[in-house]
Amino acid sequence: MWSNNELTNILDIQYPIVQAGMAGGVTTPQLAAEVSNNGALGTIGAGYMEAADLKNTIRETKKMTDHPFAVNLFVPEKYEIDESSITESKRLLDPICKELGIESLDYSHESSKLEQHIDLLLQEGISIYSFTFGIPSPNIIARLKNKNCILIGTATTVEEAIMNEHAGMDIVVAQGSEAGGHRGTFSKPFSQAMIGTLSLVPQIVDYVKIPVVAAGGIMDARGIMAARMLGAHGVQMGTAFLTCEESGAKPQHKKAILSSSETDPILTSVFSGKPARGIRNTFISKLTPYEDTLPPYPIQNALTKPIRKAAYVQDKPEYMSLWSGQSPRLSKHITARELINGIITDTDKLLKDL
Ligand SMILES: Cc1cc2nc3c(=O)[nH]c(=O)nc-3n(C[C@H](O)[C@H](O)[C@H](O)COP(=O)(O)O)c2cc1C
Repeated sequence: MWSNNELTNILDIQYPIVQAGMAGGVTTPQLAAEVSNNGALGTIGAGYMEAADLKNTIRETKKMTDHPFAVNLFVPEKYEIDESSITESKRLLDPICKELGIESLDYSHESSKLEQHIDLLLQEGISIYSFTFGIPSPNIIARLKNKNCILIGTATTVEEAIMNEHAGMDIVVAQGSEAGGHRGTFSKPFSQAMIGTLSLVPQIVDYVKIPVVAAGGIMDARGIMAARMLGAHGVQMGTAFLTCEESGAKPQHKKAILSSSETDPILTSVFSGKPARGIRNTFISKLTPYEDTLPPYPIQNALTKPIRKAAYVQDKPEYMSLWSGQSPRLSKHITARELINGIITDTDKLLKDL
């Protein structure tokens, strides 16, 4: 059976499909539970969550599924606070603030919640953890391994995949440059780590022994079969699950993906200070000329938060972050169950045709 392998055995799932942890409200308990109930691995994107919210989300998800699901967390990075770049960013954002009726912007960035979240998740009995933006500390890895948890890292280069394996990760996600949302790059300037999924996956497969999960631009049975042929054990899909009915993505976001073409998603750091792939809009056009002068993540992310929120409330998608991978034409507004069942049926058919 094409779907049964080391990855499905480790994760105790039926199909080698992982729904990406997408921070920012996309991964509702309904979405993660429905994905897990249909044989794939649901993931809660907890990167931006407060502890109370995370606890509720975990408990809600557990009420809806007895199957395993994962929680995705951000590994904190070092950054410098440069007051002049903050002042400049505020100045650039001021006309948009005026248009949206926002009085002032603040960059009150919180310290990392990673340790606190790990405590809570262990108490809640979570056993599958995925990470992006880096590798957690040896202390965190040891704590999780002590409890027999399964750890999934993210790599955008072969070097990062090897680092994940050496650190003790059980599985590594190979995030190709097609991927929607933030780049997981942590060992190099991101511009040196824009490797397409087709090139990245087989090279990572050749250099690590742990199962590899391909991510970036994969939306259907064709993508899954291609990834399997490249040696990946499975796939992680973000954009395809984002437009599902159970996803908590804002309606404007879903609509933008469903009506976009492959030329619309571009890489930009103007929303958060960290490169991410999203659909081009007025906000990106206005800020791009100043991209190199803006503060780093998470400061720029904190500064633009009220803008993104007000833009949603006032139905102005031109100022929202509309993260998407490079295959938006393949997106569908269906249930997670329909998406997974369709993929399985089509994969069986593809194999027969071959
Ligand atoms: C809206 C959105 C939010 C994302 N947030 C996260 C996140 O919080 N953590 C993470 O590891 N990856 C995140 N990603 C990246 C995914 O894990 C994955 O690499 C990507 O979605 C794969 O490309 P695709 O969107 O073409 O399927 C996000 C992707 C999207 C589209």
